[in-house]
Amino acid sequence: MNENNNRAQFTTRLGVIATTVGSAVGLGNIWRFPYEAGTHGGGAFLFTYLCFIFLFGIPILCAEFMIGRQTRSNIFGAFRKLRSSGQWHWVGYIGIGASLMILSFYSVVAGWTLEYLYQSITGALNFSSAEEFHKQFSTFSTGNWRPLMWTIIFLLLNFVIVIRGVQKGIERMSNIMMPCLFIILIIFCINSLMMPGAVDGLKFLFTPDFSKINSSVMIGAMGQAFFSLSLGLGTMLTYGSYFSNRTRIVRSATTTALLDTSVAILAGVIIFPAVFTFGVSPAQGPTLVFEILPNIFSQLPGSIFWSSLFFFLLFIASLSSTISMSEVSIAFFSEEKKMSRKKATWLNTGIALVFGSICALSFGSLSGMTIFGHTIFSLFDYVSSNILLPAGGMFIAFFAGWLLDRNIIKSQLTNDGDVKVHVMKIIIFSLKYIAPIGILLVFLSLINLI
Ligand code: PHE
Repeated sequence: MNENNNRAQFTTRLGVIATTVGSAVGLGNIWRFPYEAGTHGGGAFLFTYLCFIFLFGIPILCAEFMIGRQTRSNIFGAFRKLRSSGQWHWVGYIGIGASLMILSFYSVVAGWTLEYLYQSITGALNFSSAEEFHKQFSTFSTGNWRPLMWTIIFLLLNFVIVIRGVQKGIERMSNIMMPCLFIILIIFCINSLMMPGAVDGLKFLFTPDFSKINSSVMIGAMGQAFFSLSLGLGTMLTYGSYFSNRTRIVRSATTTALLDTSVAILAGVIIFPAVFTFGVSPAQGPTLVFEILPNIFSQLPGSIFWSSLFFFLLFIASLSSTISMSEVSIAFFSEEKKMSRKKATWLNTGIALVFGSICALSFGSLSGMTIFGHTIFSLFDYVSSNILLPAGGMFIAFFAGWLLDRNIIKSQLTNDGDVKVHVMKIIIFSLKYIAPIGILLVFLSLINLI
């Protein structure tokens, strides 16, 4: 395998999983998955999403892990070490663009989480009808100042954590918080399953109507798979660079993907029964979860406790995700552009503050500012998740499948022959053919070339 240099390494297997899951699990699972599934027909979306997780997600996750561990560097350094010629550094630029765009709009939603945490604690989320919850959220989100304030607060928190180098602390915190989140989601699931709309909700989520699978469902599901796994921008590659030589790559990738996917499905099982019980539309977009969840909580005994605990855990889950995406551009500015880490972190935060503010105002005074019919918020969301991440993933898969020395792949996947990997051929086949061609076909279907 590669030389073992002084780079810090994860010491335990649990450390590896906790950190990769900490990055993967976040608003993508609890906020984005239900709203995407809701706007794309439920079951048809879930089915397509699961196919993409298995066909592209797990193999590309393995590819990022092995390229990272082989080169022990960030995405730019990795391509430079493995292939000094060619234009491969462009994959790194795609990753940086994606990470900054995601950080910008993600912080807005993390800011909504903070507002709802605040409202939960003060007992303000106490309404009795779906209309009132709808009005509450829309008054808040169109009100400019509060969403802007929370976005800035969230980005500054992210900044302080990254600049003080206390990510490890947050990661340790999220090691405890993530299992808590999982448990509370299961409790909410049970609650939702007892609602009158449970059967309709579950039908909506789990019965795929295959006739609904069109290019918009496919591009949405593909983007969601990449977004949710933090894939295609170099985040997981960087984590791979900290793996010890004993870490089992295929097993880590599979465990991460399965845990991440279960959280998304749990979120769906919580949301859709409630959507049908409250008689609201599942296709209302990014606001869905923030109107449904508080409504669910308000009906539980001890609602202030549940609601505060949930939004707090969601906030920590968001923070462990933004820390991981910030690392992509900070590593670029500091390791490649030779800035001090402090300056690099400032720059990362500065850019996100500018674009994050515009995204925050996209629901209020900038709602009329649209490009191709998208507000800036939804444009950032769409372009980064649905285009940039899969494009990055396509190149990473192509690189691993066609250009990476086969012996490197074998030694990385088997830890120099120490572990047997039965699915090795399948992974290589996917990286060579299924993932790059599949992603390309989904892109082509979008521009109606097929
Ligand atoms: N996967 C994270 C989530 O689901 C979002 C993310 C995307 C994190 C890309 C890092 C990089 O919330």
